[in-house]
Amino acid sequence: MAENKDKNAERKTLTTRQGHPVTDNQNIRTIGDRGPATLENYHFIEKISHFDREEVPERVVHARGAGAFGYFETYGKVGDEPVEKYTRAKVFSGAGKKTPLMVRFSTVAGSKDSPETERDPRGFAVKMYTEDGNWDLVGNNLKIFFIRDAMKFPDMIHAFKADPASNVPNPQRMFDFVSRSPEATHMITFLFSPYGIPATYRHMQGSGVNTYKWVDEKGEAVLVKYHWEPKQGIRNLTQEEANYIQGKNTGHATQDLYEAIEQGDYPEWELFVQIMEDDYHEELDFDPLDDTKLWPEDKFPWLPVGKMVLDRNPVDYHAEIEQAAFGTGVLVDGMDFSDDKMLQGRTFSYSDTQRYRVGANYLKLPVNAPKTTIHTNQHRGQMDFRDPKESGDNPHINYEPSMLGGLQEADKGERPQHRPTFNAAAMSAPIDRPNNYGQAGETYRNFEDWERDELINNLSNALAVCDESIQSAMIEHFTQADEEYGRRVKEGIEAKLKEIKENNEEDKLPGREAGKTKFGQGS
Ligand code: HEM
Repeated sequence: MAENKDKNAERKTLTTRQGHPVTDNQNIRTIGDRGPATLENYHFIEKISHFDREEVPERVVHARGAGAFGYFETYGKVGDEPVEKYTRAKVFSGAGKKTPLMVRFSTVAGSKDSPETERDPRGFAVKMYTEDGNWDLVGNNLKIFFIRDAMKFPDMIHAFKADPASNVPNPQRMFDFVSRSPEATHMITFLFSPYGIPATYRHMQGSGVNTYKWVDEKGEAVLVKYHWEPKQGIRNLTQEEANYIQGKNTGHATQDLYEAIEQGDYPEWELFVQIMEDDYHEELDFDPLDDTKLWPEDKFPWLPVGKMVLDRNPVDYHAEIEQAAFGTGVLVDGMDFSDDKMLQGRTFSYSDTQRYRVGANYLKLPVNAPKTTIHTNQHRGQMDFRDPKESGDNPHINYEPSMLGGLQEADKGERPQHRPTFNAAAMSAPIDRPNNYGQAGETYRNFEDWERDELINNLSNALAVCDESIQSAMIEHFTQADEEYGRRVKEGIEAKLKEIKENNEEDKLPGREAGKTKFGQGS
């Protein structure tokens, strides 16, 4: 009892958001003790109306997520060479230098509270608060993607989400889209293998997926791909293990990350890069800017550049994680965009959605604001809670250039800009080296036996409940990748259909209208 009394003594007084002490937080003001309620009850009306507005729109993709804070420590080298040979980005220079960061991991298709056991890529988004402003590396756990052109992204996501009429998840819709998008064969091969369900966020890899550039002191650039490797090791779940966990806990991955950090078991990832000259690379049988492809490690080795440690949990999930806003356009000096057309489409989409999801002043929020000083003329809009000092010395001049004062452009300095040149006609056209199946076949053959068995089983179960036209199109894609791969999926579908008939479960068979499927993906 004595302990409780002490705690009460330390308690802070509850106030309204206007700073008034709240003397009764239990009873609304009424006429007599049995009501009716009065309208001038300021504290009650503020409390309820704020509650009514507590949620912001969830992310249109990657809505379910977890995040944490920590730091990046650079090795000052890329492999054995000084990092300055390839990039002047300060975040990588000076061995041992630490840069604060935050990370958000996520699933893709499910909504904000959906199970974290879904077969789905996992988001791996990192925001580094560097001395030159923010750098975001918005990646996934898998190193490749379903499509290579940003134009297809909205259709892809529509197909992956629930049926728009019934709101029932239906894998047939996803395979319908994918069967008309042969470039997805490689990603589907990873997604339906055990890599499609990472055991936890701590035990998964990360990758920038798209190709970026590193720019050196002379303004010359190389192509670069980023990869995060978990020091905890890689662990995935079989479908059966995932089903078991999902029956007990729909937030196991968030819980795992939070508890590990609370207990001081700080997760770490090493950052590797692959480097390539920025060229057409005739010797390759694929386009190096095609994000459905891996860069072969024997030709483009993984070179370590630093490590990331996560050592702090969010104090407030909504403020620090839900409102976090990452974007592929957020690069610092020493980095640039490649001509990867997915990357360019992404770069528009992120900040665009954040202006809607979080608001025009989303970059003012502490989690999104850089740790460097801001001086900008981009003011006003809703929730403009700027520090007046941002306007510089002359608050009357909110434009640039001016002879009367106000903010001025930074010095261009000595450093030459990177200036890629182009000489080609504008067009809407597919790339000239699609090679949709080569690497999908290699990935299939590189899996261990049990991983291949899982892949075939997961694909067969999911495809068995799809329309026959979709089944044959998918079998054809897998056969093009590897003859055995296609044959085994075909046999797997036949076996599953036989089982369904024997168990009198024909109502689950294809031929129904979309939306009526009772099977979950991979179940
Ligand atoms: C989130 C668009 C491809 C990784 C998002 C969001 C949008 C989006 C609109 C929601 C952002 C927010 O509300 O803050 C696109 C488009 C793509 C694309 C248009 C293709 C053209 C990719 C690819 C990757 C990826 C290839 C992996 C490298 C992520 C991640 C998030 C995300 C990790 C969640 C970021 C967070 O935790 O807040 N994407 N995306 N996206 N996307 Fe993409």
